Amino acid sequence: MAEAKTAEPAIPVMPPLTRREFLNYAWLASLGFVFVVGFGGATFFFSFPRFKVGEFGGVIPLGKAGDVLPKPTDPPLHNAEGKFWLANINGAVLALYDVCVHLGCLYQWQPVSGRFECPCHGSKYQKDGTYIEGPAPRSLDRMVISFVDANGKPVALTDPKGVPMQIPSDTNLNIEIDTGKIIQGTGHG
Ligand code: FES
Repeated sequence: MAEAKTAEPAIPVMPPLTRREFLNYAWLASLGFVFVVGFGGATFFFSFPRFKVGEFGGVIPLGKAGDVLPKPTDPPLHNAEGKFWLANINGAVLALYDVCVHLGCLYQWQPVSGRFECPCHGSKYQKDGTYIEGPAPRSLDRMVISFVDANGKPVALTDPKGVPMQIPSDTNLNIEIDTGKIIQGTGHG
């Protein structure tokens, strides 16, 4: 006996889009496209480091601590690429941003007076960057120092206040200066 055929379910028929609806949908789709492309592009851009290793704004590798660090009696060493002075304060190391905190001139180390002096308006600072006199509002700014092992793993890092950092006894550790991390000097009076 032949089976009775069941009726096919009715397929709903969409009414045709009006010109106005079509244009609204097209507008929304183009906005979504612009958002996705813009957001994706920005995410892609910011997923890369902004500065390369070895240039100001990035990390400056200096080499083995035993080879590059000044001795406590040495004058501070200037690093032009990284824009900092490296100073040894009684066995602790400090990286001072080489821009005067008054109006941005480049201060210099003066061996005769044994301090940093700014040629623009006369601000003076001790070897550890502490404010002495002049119109500067604070002590010199510092950068973050890290000592890393042969695998690039940090074993010692500048503390958040940027106080001079005790030099580890292992002179084979490499020293790196992060010139993108500036720690503001302490204000005075
Ligand atoms: S910029 Fe250094 S004292 Fe004014």
